[in-house]
Amino acid sequence: MADSTQRAAGATLEIRGLTVAVDDKEILTGVDLTIRAGETHAIMGPNGSGKSTLAYAIAGHPKYTVTGGTVTLDGEDVLAMAVDERARAGVFLAMQYPVEVPGVSVSNFLRSAATAIRGEAPKLRLWVKEQKEAMGRLKMDPAFAERNVNEGFSGGEKKRHEILQLELLQPKIAVLDETDSGLDVDALRVVSEGVNRVRESGRTGVLLITHYTRILNYIRPDFVHVFVGGRIVDEGGAELADELEANGYTKYDGAGVPAGGRELPRGPVAPGAVTTA
Ligand SMILES: Nc1ncnc2c1ncn2[C@@H]1O[C@H](COP(=O)(O)OP(=O)(O)OP(=O)(O)O)[C@@H](O)[C@H]1O
Ligand SMILES: [Mg+2]
Repeated sequence: MADSTQRAAGATLEIRGLTVAVDDKEILTGVDLTIRAGETHAIMGPNGSGKSTLAYAIAGHPKYTVTGGTVTLDGEDVLAMAVDERARAGVFLAMQYPVEVPGVSVSNFLRSAATAIRGEAPKLRLWVKEQKEAMGRLKMDPAFAERNVNEGFSGGEKKRHEILQLELLQPKIAVLDETDSGLDVDALRVVSEGVNRVRESGRTGVLLITHYTRILNYIRPDFVHVFVGGRIVDEGGAELADELEANGYTKYDGAGVPAGGRELPRGPVAPGAVTTA
């Protein structure tokens, strides 16, 4: 965990009473979570509990309608920002299912993203070196730089490409949605090392969504949150992940899904916080 100096200097993402609907169906039922730079939080929960919905809502996916609550980054209203503004503000999402971008090479994509986020185009010569070194650390074949983004990439290659972006963009808050799924043992180690490098800078707060404690043996979380029925129903340290792996989620049956239907968000809902972003 980061020391207090790093924390004071770093960013804070605060989620309060967040409720989110998709196609009029309420998926998130009141999420409260604070992530500070240098901290690593793991979210574990059953399929369909809303973990990816939380990730998308933070990143600003238009299909996910925020119906209540607040998300702020260092006090700035994230929900009021467009998707690209969120990225520029320092919010990064590694998607569970990364999308293919035909016609755009990895190299062009990464340099455009770095330009948008850093506010100026990195000098070509320096950039080529920076990208090559980052790819080397992630054991990626340099030929990937010229391939179209995610087109024909294997599952594991897509995940490495997400972590390549993470390392090059150095966001304030990184949400990694099942970055470990489908990775072989060697790839899992390489990807975890990438996350740990970013984490050790102390400037990035990491939210790791996962089903497996396997990755948590490489990336030790400071906090583990249990996500059921669209909200956090339990919290603990790294040891909670081991307990979940042993016992599953049955002890939380019924949690998060209040009898009689929808429960109002617990946290205070700021006026104007409701948005259709
Ligand atoms: N675009 C969408 N259209 C319709 N339903 C959706 C959409 N996105 C999410 N949902 C529904 O919201 C619920 C939560 O989905 P979400 O993907 O957030 O779960 P998850 O916790 O990430 O699950 P998993 O562990 O399987 O990845 C599911 O019932 C899902 O079908
Ligand atoms: Mg998911």
